[in-house]
Amino acid sequence: MRDFSYEISEDMKQRWSPRAFSTEPVDMDDLMALFEAARYAPSFFNEQPWRFVVADKEEELKVMRGILNENIQEWANKAPVLVVLVAKKSFANGEPNNWHAFDAGTAWGYLTLEAQRRGLITHAIGGFSKIKAHELLAIPGKFEVLAMIAIGKIGKKENLSIALQEQEEPANRKPLKELVFHGRFRS
Ligand SMILES: Cc1cc2nc3c(=O)[nH]c(=O)nc-3n(C[C@H](O)[C@H](O)[C@H](O)COP(=O)(O)O)c2cc1C
Repeated sequence: MRDFSYEISEDMKQRWSPRAFSTEPVDMDDLMALFEAARYAPSFFNEQPWRFVVADKEEELKVMRGILNENIQEWANKAPVLVVLVAKKSFANGEPNNWHAFDAGTAWGYLTLEAQRRGLITHAIGGFSKIKAHELLAIPGKFEVLAMIAIGKIGKKENLSIALQEQEEPANRKPLKELVFHGRFRS
C-alpha cells in the first residue's frame, strides 16, 4: 500500500514496476514518444550523455534477452521492447563528465513517467551482464552501460511464477523524515 502526505502528479502516484508483461507490441509512436520525453531531460552543460539501444524486433530481442540474467529472463522475455541505457563518460574535449550517470538516470525518470501517461509499463533492470551488452551490441568503451529497461503493456499476473506473483504490487517508500534533512545531514 502506498501512502502520500502531499499531492503530486497522478502519473508519479500510479507508476510502478510490474513484471507481468503482455506480449502485445507497443505502437511505434508511443515508443518513440518515450525517448522524446527522455530527450528533454536536463543534463550538465546540456551534454545529453544518454543513448538508448532498442530491441523491438524478434531478432533484436533474442540478442537482448541473452544479456539478461536467467532469473530476469523468467519475466522480462515476454516484454515486447527491451532497451539498454548507456551514457557517454566524457565530453568532446576528453574531460570526464562526472554527471553522466546522474543525467541518464533523470532521462530514465522522464521516460518511465511518459510511459505511465500513455498506459504503458516499464521495469528498470540491473540484473544483466554489462560485458555482454558491450560485446553483443557494439557499445564503445567510452560509454558506460547503466541499466536495461523492459517496456510494454500489463499482462496477466497469473502467468508469473507463484513467487513473483507474491511480489507483484506497487512498492511503498521510506517516510519523508528519513530522506529529507533541513539544515544539515542527520543519520
Ligand atoms: C536501476 C534499477 C535497477 C533495477 N533492477 C531490477 C532488477 O534487476 N530486477 C527487478 O526485478 N527489479 C529491478 N528494479 C526495479 C526496482 O526493484 C523497483 O523500481 C523498486 O522496487 C520500486 O518499485 P516500483 O518501481 O514498483 O515503485 C530496478 C530498478 C532500478 C531503478
